[in-house]
Amino acid sequence: MDRYSVVGHPIKHSLSPMIHRMFAEQTGEEIEYEGIELPVTSFETRIWQLFKEGYSGFNVTAPFKGDAFDFVDDMSDRAKQARAVNTMKKMPNGRIFGDTTDGVGLLNDLLDNLGWTLNKANILILGAGGAVRGVLEPLLAQDPESLVVANRTLQKAEELAEEYPALTPSTFDELDQPFDLIINGTSASLSGQLPPIPADVVTSQSRCYDMAYGNKPTAFLEWSKQQGVKECADGLGMLVGQAAESFYIWRGVRPDVKPVIEALRQQLL
Ligand code: ATR
Repeated sequence: MDRYSVVGHPIKHSLSPMIHRMFAEQTGEEIEYEGIELPVTSFETRIWQLFKEGYSGFNVTAPFKGDAFDFVDDMSDRAKQARAVNTMKKMPNGRIFGDTTDGVGLLNDLLDNLGWTLNKANILILGAGGAVRGVLEPLLAQDPESLVVANRTLQKAEELAEEYPALTPSTFDELDQPFDLIINGTSASLSGQLPPIPADVVTSQSRCYDMAYGNKPTAFLEWSKQQGVKECADGLGMLVGQAAESFYIWRGVRPDVKPVIEALRQQLL
């Protein structure tokens, strides 16, 4: 049976094993999938070992997406652009192929699951770290009216704007217009914190999305509701969407994400 794993540090809270086992059951693909915690400093050696032991592929999560980018032999254009790899696959010729599926996961959730429109929308992204870099290209491909990237450290947003001239870098203080869609891509949610967002950026018609998820609404989604925002979503659908794209890369079969999102939501409650 083909074996896959998610590797990260830490890994014990990862939902990926549960998601991929549900995909396998749904599609009838016979695979094994587990989570392996790797020491922070020995990604390359351990991954080589694991491929030698017979693994067919890996999902890669924090803090190793950059290490995986350096490790693979070949990669997709979208991985090159994002400078991150979250999916590795051993090809029949023995070479290791890398891809990033986070952008597809986000778009799949926003467009297909939530039915939100990005075309001609004014979009604000909070944060300018690795998570945001990975989704800029697919968001821009939807032809929004504007894409503003606001970050605590302005320089990081400016660096992204050098790479993606279509986006506008900003500090949080400078934001004074409402947006159609606000995506929180900061890691603030992971520690229960709220980025310093001025209330002017939302109206009751705005939609708010947090790339993080948990067993209760994130601080950003709580804040959005307090501002009167009616349509809010967390990143659980993005997580399942990126997993589905990885599964497709490995198995050539696209699982249905909706029942899996629903099952996980029940588990998280
Ligand atoms: P990730 O891989 O999750 O994107 P990262 O590359 O370390 O992690 O980026 C974290 C992002 O969250 C950065 O944009 C960071 O802002 P700075 O560049 O100014 O550090 C942002 N961030 C983290 N905690 C935050 C907080 N409490 N308020 C606002 N932004 C925060």
